[in-house]
Amino acid sequence: MAHIMSKPAWAISENQATPQSTFLNRRQLIRNWGYAGLGLAAAVAMRPDRAFAAADRQEDATADLYPAPANPAYVLDRELTPENINSTYNNFYEFGSHKQIWKAAQTLQTSPWDIQIDGMVERPFTIAFDDLVRKLPLEERLYRHRCVEAWSMTIPWTGFSLASLVALAKPLSSAKFVRFETFLDPQVATGQKQNWYPWPYVEGVTIEEAANDLGFMVTGAYGHSLDKQFGAPLRLALPWKYGFKSIKSIRRISFTDTRPVSFWESVGPGEYGFWANVNPGVPHPRWSQKQERVLHSGLYVPTQIFNGYSEQVAHLYKDMQGEKLYT
Ligand code: MTE
Repeated sequence: MAHIMSKPAWAISENQATPQSTFLNRRQLIRNWGYAGLGLAAAVAMRPDRAFAAADRQEDATADLYPAPANPAYVLDRELTPENINSTYNNFYEFGSHKQIWKAAQTLQTSPWDIQIDGMVERPFTIAFDDLVRKLPLEERLYRHRCVEAWSMTIPWTGFSLASLVALAKPLSSAKFVRFETFLDPQVATGQKQNWYPWPYVEGVTIEEAANDLGFMVTGAYGHSLDKQFGAPLRLALPWKYGFKSIKSIRRISFTDTRPVSFWESVGPGEYGFWANVNPGVPHPRWSQKQERVLHSGLYVPTQIFNGYSEQVAHLYKDMQGEKLYT
């Protein structure tokens, strides 16, 4: 148990962690890639889990909301990662400590799904996801995602800003942090039977971070509602932070004056902290963060400070020299 606590399995080197099947040669990639060049239908059609997802979506009460209009402020300098690669290479420890959890994750019942909003708010409430998703206008944003393990992807998320959710929750002025919690159901998510992990998965941000427009509550990807392996029905995307901050399958959102201790921070406090802002100049204790392997090309590219989002977020941290901002 002790060594597991200090070294989560997802922290092993990428050579070990990445199966050959996730590498496509470039020609094949260009031939397969439909989202930007050939249109959405082509991208969806090449998914290996198409049968699962299509069956699910027929019962999806939110299907009419997709695709949502694209927000032109969020575009990319790289190609999108094809959907079949993204949706079959995931970190979701509730379903296993490896990347091939997409099949196991289909057991998660994501409808009905209630979300509790509580703590330091004017009035705590519980809301059905299907109602919440119709309260706030959906949009599509093209985001980068940089995992602490030094791989990256690019993805068309659909959702609403975290800031708009905070406004809906009406926090009190005493609230300093937002704490997010995933479901807890070891019968369905068998990874949660591993009782040396501090389930349920928890993450947190400051109120100032939550008010920044870049924080995104994700309800869909690739032009349709979110597949389970991505953290359906509602997950977070904080693209300037390492991927573990982007908590999946959120059940509870609490406003608090106490800094939340996140899942990986309690597992390995020397290696994973509260802030976890991307910085190529600050190595992880066991590997460099200078470069990242782009999931769909296999190519290594330089990592950028705040994952390329400095303009939007660097000001949030300018008076925090004493904090471990990049762990
Ligand atoms: N959320 C929950 N509930 N459980 C997890 O194991 N893994 C995190 C994050 N959110 C995780 C989670 C990590 S380490 C990463 S890199 C991203 O989800 C992966 O997101 P993806 O599978 O959509 O690429």
